[in-house]
Amino acid sequence: MNLRSMKPYLAILMVTVGLALGGSQSLQSPPDNSLYLQLGEREGIANVVEDMLYLIVEDERINHQFKGINVAQFHGNLTDQLCELSGGPCQYSGRDMRELHAAMNITNTQFNALAENLILAMEENQVPTGAQNRLIKHLLPLYPDIRHF
Ligand code: HEM
Repeated sequence: MNLRSMKPYLAILMVTVGLALGGSQSLQSPPDNSLYLQLGEREGIANVVEDMLYLIVEDERINHQFKGINVAQFHGNLTDQLCELSGGPCQYSGRDMRELHAAMNITNTQFNALAENLILAMEENQVPTGAQNRLIKHLLPLYPDIRHF
């Protein structure tokens, strides 16, 4: 087969490669980190978690559960978890959610109390309402691992 007779095949090959490259480009689009940015990146998330901890200490519905915990460890691990869930460049390396919370017999009311404190802490840090709702939505799938059934 000479070059002239290969022309149609070459054209088809070029179109196919072009489509494949175009397609793979859209597959490789960067992950959505817009929520992470709205939360003020890792530093903003760390501030929210810190303020949430102050609220927990004052909250009679749940503060007894947190007595004697390693505050720095809790703060670091929850910050990493929220950072990762919101699309940030962090990796949660804390304990398994189900195992950790199983012995606490967490009720619906206690779960809601913690979510409420998180929302108040985001409010204190001027996180936009839309971003607050998006973060809570990311936490809902963890509910069955945390609440006691
Ligand atoms: C969406 C809800 C929740 C999330 C995402 C969450 C997440 C976490 C994370 C990431 C840690 C740290 C894990 C580690 O250090 O290895 C933790 C620890 C803890 N959580 Fe939760 N949690 C939730 C709900 C609750 C609720 C409702 C309570 C109780 C009212 C609770 C009580 C605790 C306590 C006491 C610890 C510390 C345990 C220890 O260090 O021994 N959590 N949680």
